[in-house]
Amino acid sequence: MKGQRLSTTDIVAMKRRGERIAMLTAYDYTSAQMIDAAGVPVILIGDTVGMVVQGQGTTLPVTLDQIIYHSQMVARGSQRALLVGDMPFMTYQVSVDDALRNSARLLTEGKVGAVKIEGGATIAPTIERLVSVGIPVCGHLGFTPQSVHAMGGPRIQGKEPSAAASLVADAKALEAAGAFAIVLELIPASVAQEISQRVSIPTIGIGAGPHCDGEVQVFHDLFGLYTDFKPKHTRRYLNVAQDISAAARQFVRDVSEGTFPGAEQTTDLGAEAKEHFRALLTA
Ligand code: KIV
Repeated sequence: MKGQRLSTTDIVAMKRRGERIAMLTAYDYTSAQMIDAAGVPVILIGDTVGMVVQGQGTTLPVTLDQIIYHSQMVARGSQRALLVGDMPFMTYQVSVDDALRNSARLLTEGKVGAVKIEGGATIAPTIERLVSVGIPVCGHLGFTPQSVHAMGGPRIQGKEPSAAASLVADAKALEAAGAFAIVLELIPASVAQEISQRVSIPTIGIGAGPHCDGEVQVFHDLFGLYTDFKPKHTRRYLNVAQDISAAARQFVRDVSEGTFPGAEQTTDLGAEAKEHFRALLTA
C-alpha cells in the first residue's frame, strides 16, 4: 500500500488516547495541500461544496460525480490526512444497493478512505451493510443539511428532552452499526457531551459545543472566503475575501495606470535581435 495516510482506526485511537480531532473541509488540490501540511488529520470533501464553491442555497443539488471530482483533487493535494467523502442527497437513501455502489465509487474513483452519510437509527442498517463490505462510514446527526427543508432551516436540534434522548439513541445505533465516527451538527452542548461520553467512537462537533471529541469546520468559513453569512459556530482565523478584494482593486489600478506588468514580469529580445527583428519588418 502506497503512502502513510491516517486510517479510521487511527482516528478512533485518538479518542482512546484523549487526543482531540480537527477535521476541516477541502474541495481542491491547493487548499488540501495547505491544510494537510498544517497537520489536519481528517479532511472532509463535504457537500458544502454546493454552497461555498458553487453558490447554491443548499447542499441538495450536489452530485456524486462532483464529490468524486473534488475528492480526486483533494487526494492529489494531500498525503497524510484521512479523506472522508460526503455522500450526496439521494445517493444512499433509496436503497442499500445504491448506497453500496455509490460509496464504492467514492472510494475507488474519489480515493477517499471513508464516506459520510446523514441520518439516525433508520440509516443504521445501511451503515451496517457498508461496513460489512469494508467501507468505513462516518455518521452525521443533529441538523442534517440534506433534510434542511424538513427541518425548516439550519436550526438547533435536540432542544426538547425527548428529542435529545432520541439523538443519544441514534448515536448508539450508529455506533452499533459500525460507524467509526459521528458528526454532531447544531445540537446543545450538554446533549453532545452525553453522546460523547456514551459512545466509544469519536464525536466531531460543529455548533455542538466544546465537549465533543473533535471539531469540524468549513474551510471557506474558517478563513473568511465565504461571506454570504457567518455561522455562529465559526471562528474566523483569516479574512481572505477582504484581502483578495483589496489585492484585486490594486491589480485593476496597476493595469489601468500601466505599472503592471513591470520590468520584473517582462522578457524581451536582446538589443541586437531587436534591431534585426525591426529590420526584417521594414525590409
Ligand atoms: O458538507 C459538509 O461540509 C459537512 C460539514 C458541515 C460537517 O457536512
